[in-house]
Amino acid sequence: MKTINIAIDGPSGAGKSSISKAVAADLGFIHVDTGAMYRAIGLYALRHACTEPDAITAQIDKVDVELKFIAGAQRVMLCGEDVSDYIRSPEVSMAASAVAAVPAVRERMLDLQKKIASENNIIMDGRDIGTVVLPHADLKIFLTASAEERASRRYLELREKPNCPPYEEILKDIEQRDYNDTHREIAPLRQAEDAVLVDSSHMGFNEVVEHITDLIREKLD
Ligand code: DC
Repeated sequence: MKTINIAIDGPSGAGKSSISKAVAADLGFIHVDTGAMYRAIGLYALRHACTEPDAITAQIDKVDVELKFIAGAQRVMLCGEDVSDYIRSPEVSMAASAVAAVPAVRERMLDLQKKIASENNIIMDGRDIGTVVLPHADLKIFLTASAEERASRRYLELREKPNCPPYEEILKDIEQRDYNDTHREIAPLRQAEDAVLVDSSHMGFNEVVEHITDLIREKLD
């Protein structure tokens, strides 16, 4: 059976995951958040003190990452443990960004991501989905927003929580991750030539969801 594959790429904090999730729910597709897979490996690397490229490469065969979809929602399993609630901290974000630059890590994730896409109708979000993972996707979208806008959205989200970092620190963190993701040698973040650019800097959440859902419906009609 031919499955429908939609690729959504873009930088950190552009809202790819929450938007992909809402679009997938509208269309009855599965949403695959590939960043969560790299985050699970980042968590493994922190727990086992192997964030350096050689160290994580030596351990990669022991790192068992699996996705489960419960009522359409993705859960990330690391060596059998559901780690979905432990992968969103700033430490794990940085570790994920580091391990995501390691070839052995990417090879492993590529196979798993291709397999999921061949078996399900999916919206898959990440950095290299349109360029590397699903070069023949039915539709590719590059979702972005300015670094300042992404930082201010994140700041508004965190403002009410204890230990909210200052805006400047959030912006610096986003700029650092943008740099890491676009400058690594293997599968760097870039817009695929045939991707549709959606700049959400001046768009609300629902507006972006509607726009992307319309693009997909037009393409599939
Ligand atoms: O989207 P995110 O912030 O949850 O991603 C976490 C890290 O994983 C981020 O530094 C980029 C990396 N990543 C990647 O290299 N390739 C992907 N397809 C998805 C995420």
